[in-house]
Amino acid sequence: MQVLNGKTALVTGASSGIGAAIAKELAAQGVHLILVARSRDKLEQLANELSKSYAVRCIAVAADLSSPNCGSNLLAQVKAMDIDVDILVNNAGYGTYGRFDSIAPEHEQAEIAVNIAAVVDLAHAFLPGMLLRGSGTILNTASTAAFQPVPYMAVYAASKAFVLSFSEALWAEYRDQGIHVVALCPSAVDTGFIDQLGDESVRKTATFSSTLLPEQVAIHAMKAIHGKGPTHITGFKSWLMAQSVRFAPRSLVARSSADMMRPPVQNGASSS
Ligand SMILES: NC(=O)c1ccc[n+]([C@@H]2O[C@H](COP(=O)([O-])OP(=O)(O)OC[C@H]3O[C@@H](n4cnc5c(N)ncnc54)[C@H](OP(=O)(O)O)[C@@H]3O)[C@@H](O)[C@H]2O)c1
Repeated sequence: MQVLNGKTALVTGASSGIGAAIAKELAAQGVHLILVARSRDKLEQLANELSKSYAVRCIAVAADLSSPNCGSNLLAQVKAMDIDVDILVNNAGYGTYGRFDSIAPEHEQAEIAVNIAAVVDLAHAFLPGMLLRGSGTILNTASTAAFQPVPYMAVYAASKAFVLSFSEALWAEYRDQGIHVVALCPSAVDTGFIDQLGDESVRKTATFSSTLLPEQVAIHAMKAIHGKGPTHITGFKSWLMAQSVRFAPRSLVARSSADMMRPPVQNGASSS
């Protein structure tokens, strides 16, 4: 098990939910933190709280990860502070829910930018330093949505399938060079993620009717960081689901997934 005490982690999406819980768990293990998200006030409040409680250095950096070159911009800021990032937690992200044609295209473009482009950009920015030092960890928050298509969350699930595939590929590329890359795959978690989907009825779907707490996911994140494999799924039932879809016809998987996620009929429109 690697010793985390004294290392530095950059955690994106640290202003709430899973990211804030991972930051807290890392701080408790003596890890210095760079907290990234758009909400500067929330980041500063968490940074104050964690630096006081755990005697670690905690820096809040407000950044919009839907912007191009967010990785190189963050790297420049971190270099200016003369800090090396040992652990990169690419966790920021959000989802969209509803029929594909009902979702604003620009909202999904920004979703792709945050969920995919920023993950790649930050890995490009921080991996070279890890390679020079011969050690480092990149934890990317994917989702159990990564293992099959999810109708009514089509772009979100596809973005997480990208994160999963990307993480597994980098894991295999760099595992012999002291770099551990892992995709954390949580099932539904009770965070602002569900509220921002903008449709309370999603809570009634089979997927979101039972949720984990962000603190439980953070414990899984620690196991993923300390583990050796390229993926970490939060729980046996979710692991079983992820495996089972590999043996079923893809059309059946897509249709079953549609049945689990279909929004209720609205304004007389057909939902089938
Ligand atoms: N909740 C679930 O059911 C679930 C399940 C599986 C995977 N996940 C994944 O877990 C990750 C964390 O989500 P969460 O559940 O913790 O939701 P959350 O509480 O809504 O947190 C999302 C985080 O992402 C940040 N973020 C969003 N857009 C951003 C942008 N343009 N630039 C910078 N930061 C941005 C948010 O901060 P600001 O708003 O301050 O920018 C916030 O800190 C996401 O990747 C999500 O896809 C969630």
